[in-house]
Amino acid sequence: MKTYDDLVGDGGSDIIGQVTQLGAKLRSRLDKIKHKVALMSGKGGVGKSSITANIASCLSDRGYKVGILDADLNGPSICHLLGVGNNKLIKKDEGIEPGLGHQGIKIMSMDMLLKSADTPVMWTEEANATAVWVSTMESTAIRELLADTNWGDLDYLLIDMPPGSDRIDNIRSLIPELAGAVEITIPSMLSQHIVTKSITKNHKMGVPIIGLVENMATYVCPHCEKEGKLFEGEDVQKLSERKKIPYIGKIPFDTRVSQSKSGQLFYTEFKDSVTGKAIAETVENIEKFIKK
Ligand SMILES: Nc1ncnc2c1ncn2[C@@H]1O[C@H](COP(=O)(O)OP(=O)(O)OP(=O)(O)O)[C@@H](O)[C@H]1O
Ligand SMILES: [Mg+2]
Repeated sequence: MKTYDDLVGDGGSDIIGQVTQLGAKLRSRLDKIKHKVALMSGKGGVGKSSITANIASCLSDRGYKVGILDADLNGPSICHLLGVGNNKLIKKDEGIEPGLGHQGIKIMSMDMLLKSADTPVMWTEEANATAVWVSTMESTAIRELLADTNWGDLDYLLIDMPPGSDRIDNIRSLIPELAGAVEITIPSMLSQHIVTKSITKNHKMGVPIIGLVENMATYVCPHCEKEGKLFEGEDVQKLSERKKIPYIGKIPFDTRVSQSKSGQLFYTEFKDSVTGKAIAETVENIEKFIKK
């Protein structure tokens, strides 16, 4: 067996060449996408994926070309929300074709690589795979989902982030020109506590924060559209003032959001409702930030 001492230079792997080539491929894809926006929270289950999908629907309704990268590798939701089936990869010379979801929104998700909807992501069959190894595999997978997908020309690429404030590191290193992050919280004190960590982390890393969205801010009756309080908790607007970030959306809890069938988004059906208008207002604030 050869040892390091026997290898001359890179041992013939042309590692520098490979890395340069991968970087160039990623760059050429990203150069065709005008604005890249990450939607995140730190906290799980606060509506990141649902809001990402409905914001995409609203942007598309306004004439923008939109794509979504599902960066949640272990709990991907975007295929289900936009109605793209599993195991649907189409490979062409230019790369992998993105899935075409509701309103023609282009998506790429780990779900598209899995055999069926109930197949979990298994990085390795080894039960004792180390955390470092799994995290390296995850970083590589995100890079490939971004760089191998033939996104074409897009106005917006929305990135649906998994829970946890550490995942932005990888996205930030792959997309240094990220327009910014939209932070999402529900009014509960626990959610506000965790989203604060994510905001602080982004501040420290120099990731611009587009603003804070309060999801499930109130309860809106789907029949009479009357609003009421849902959670006890300190005003989320106060949190945005404390952290010096804009408060860009107040989206009610509306049962119709969770009742939408796969491939049908709430916004398209109910854009004139109280909740639909709240989504549109959030989108207007994102547009304003981008124009600035
Ligand atoms: N405004 C809303 N009104 C009603 N239901 C909502 C609303 N926002 C989200 N939901 C519902 O809450 C649940 C969690 O939402 P979602 O999966 O989008 O959260 P998430 O933050 O992406 O979760 P995860 O951290 O697991 O990725 C879903 O069942 C969704 O339909
Ligand atoms: Mg999600």
